[in-house]
Amino acid sequence: MTYVAPDLEALENAFEMAVRAPSIHNTQPWIWRPTTAGIELFADTRRQLSVTDSTRRSLLVSCGATLHHLRVALSASGWASTVEYFPDRSAPDHLATVRTVRQHPSESRIDQAAAIPLRRTDRRHYVPQSIPVGHMRSLATQVGSFGAVIRQVPAPMLPLLAAPMLRAAGLHETDPGYQGEIMAWSGRNRITDGVPSRNVPTAPLAGNVPVRSFADPALEEPADRPDGAQWLVLGTPHDDRRAQLRAGEAVSALLLTATHLGLATSVQTEALGIAETRQEIRSGLLHDCAYPQAMIRVGWRPENSTPLSATPRRPVAEMLAA
Ligand SMILES: Cc1cc2nc3c(=O)[nH]c(=O)nc-3n(C[C@H](O)[C@H](O)[C@H](O)COP(=O)(O)O)c2cc1C
Repeated sequence: MTYVAPDLEALENAFEMAVRAPSIHNTQPWIWRPTTAGIELFADTRRQLSVTDSTRRSLLVSCGATLHHLRVALSASGWASTVEYFPDRSAPDHLATVRTVRQHPSESRIDQAAAIPLRRTDRRHYVPQSIPVGHMRSLATQVGSFGAVIRQVPAPMLPLLAAPMLRAAGLHETDPGYQGEIMAWSGRNRITDGVPSRNVPTAPLAGNVPVRSFADPALEEPADRPDGAQWLVLGTPHDDRRAQLRAGEAVSALLLTATHLGLATSVQTEALGIAETRQEIRSGLLHDCAYPQAMIRVGWRPENSTPLSATPRRPVAEMLAA
């Protein structure tokens, strides 16, 4: 495909949307570089969480999410794209090059693009209301196009998720390196990145599966509401860097589709940062057939629930390479 660079307006809009992607602790660990050969994506390893994410797996998943956000936004402006993954063997942090061509957007791309500014990580409780099979099928189709699968965890199997999550939380509680990263990247002290207090509920979820704790929670939430979320495990058949990056695209596609369908979502990955607890999830819930890349709570918020405010982002100029 010959590379036809998108017009400036489409490109600027795509970068504005790409920075809205979810990322581990809202680290935004990516660098974008528009060149005459394509739009290049690099890992910003200076923003790696070296204890929480020592293997950089979550960093790559986060970069996959921004890659998907960028492509969705371009597509909605009439620019379809192809991706060359890891185009330069001598530059391992060069994750992808995106090349565009003029093409009318599909309806689903327009829906996903419209969901970008609306999507939030919603850590509050969800109501106990089932999700239509058709919705689940749409989510599965989305992740399938990136070589990933989702497993919906039925209620009787939730202890197989809860046990490793609880173990990981226990190990992290006494790990000063992990706690240092929580203090540095959440609470009231970050302006353009990190997980703000206002997005973290004051009361822990009254569900069976524990979720990651952050500093200084300030989002008022009643303590006794049972959590009706469905838990999904997103997995990939391989666990190399390409599979992890594409898993991030799959996560993004799932979250944007869910948002479009009116569902609330929250990615939860604490147990995947420790090899043993990740393996427990792989064998307990994915039968050793796929590698877990993210757990996602999905469900419905109560009617008339207050919308969450957006988490902050760095200005686009800061994520563009000089
Ligand atoms: C790879 C990855 C891992 C994440 N892990 C967690 C997690 O364990 N717990 C959590 O509450 N949020 C998690 N998140 C959500 C981020 O904290 C969230 O995307 C970020 O704070 C930005 O907020 P937003 O999603 O509302 O835009 C994760 C996101 C990604 C992409």
